Amino acid sequence: MPFRQRHLLGIEPLAPDEIVTLLDAADRYAERGRQGRQRTDALSGMTQVNMFFENSTRTQASFELAGKRLGMDVMSMAMQASSVKKGETLIDTALTLNAMRPDLLVVRHPHSGAVDLLAQKVDCAVLNAGDGRHEHPTQALLDALTIRREKGRLHRLTIAICGDVAHSRVARSNLILLGKMENRVRLVGPPTLMPSGIGEFGVEVTDDMAAGLADADVVMMLRLQKERMDGGFIPSEREYYHRFGLDSEKLSHAKPEAIVMHPGPMNRGVEIDGTLADDINRSVIQEQVEMGVAVRMAAMDLLARNLRAERGRAAVEAMGQGTLV
Ligand code: NCD
Repeated sequence: MPFRQRHLLGIEPLAPDEIVTLLDAADRYAERGRQGRQRTDALSGMTQVNMFFENSTRTQASFELAGKRLGMDVMSMAMQASSVKKGETLIDTALTLNAMRPDLLVVRHPHSGAVDLLAQKVDCAVLNAGDGRHEHPTQALLDALTIRREKGRLHRLTIAICGDVAHSRVARSNLILLGKMENRVRLVGPPTLMPSGIGEFGVEVTDDMAAGLADADVVMMLRLQKERMDGGFIPSEREYYHRFGLDSEKLSHAKPEAIVMHPGPMNRGVEIDGTLADDINRSVIQEQVEMGVAVRMAAMDLLARNLRAERGRAAVEAMGQGTLV
């Protein structure tokens, strides 16, 4: 099945068959990686530029590594120290970069919609590495790959997404992806951390961990996104942990073979018990990180192929019009 996208801005525009195509490609990269054959020269000669307007550890490192393993020239702009600080607008920064002719641009931005806007101004393929509370497509795809590998399928599973849903682009992208693949999704958390209008997504919502986790195949925990909170969303971290923090007692309501996920970075002792997070019999948090590199390799590979094909067609057209000599 072909992957028809020009950019990867979110899960929303993807058809289920495109999601499967991308996950299959990522699975092949993951297997190659496990066999010690990490590097290919599939995209050698191409240039990837990373622009992170928000702090990031694992996502930026993961994209960098993925690009290098595909044989690309990879450059990460230090946006904190860049002209943005001197007042340059997002669009000006984008146009400057565009003039350097990158092939792939990876962007993280604190404002929802900023990455879509930027994609309209540049000639290369753009990947959204997280925009505000909107989307974080590669995170949802790496979560999906981890689930598919652990559970042997990606449909008809019961998945509890727990915690700070309101501020989470990870939750939003996961909700969309898991819904497209026909899973049963439950959102669990205090009403103050649920987005308004969540009913429209056709998911079950509860503030009771025992009910939310009942018979779940997957328990996905979210970080309390304190940097996006502007007031008293929770009474205290201690009380939050007591009611919503995942420990083995609360996990006992899920299926015995349920897996525990977290996108990182974790607040140990706030949304999850540290020992449980490290328990390799339940937690797949490290596998999520591993799958992150594979998913990003697959996404950049598929987009780069589309870009090459598009440029090829444009060159043929230009020849037909006699503009090439
Ligand atoms: C997530 C993000 O930045 O949205 N982290 C990540 O990409 N690994 C989730 C978070 O910050 O809590």
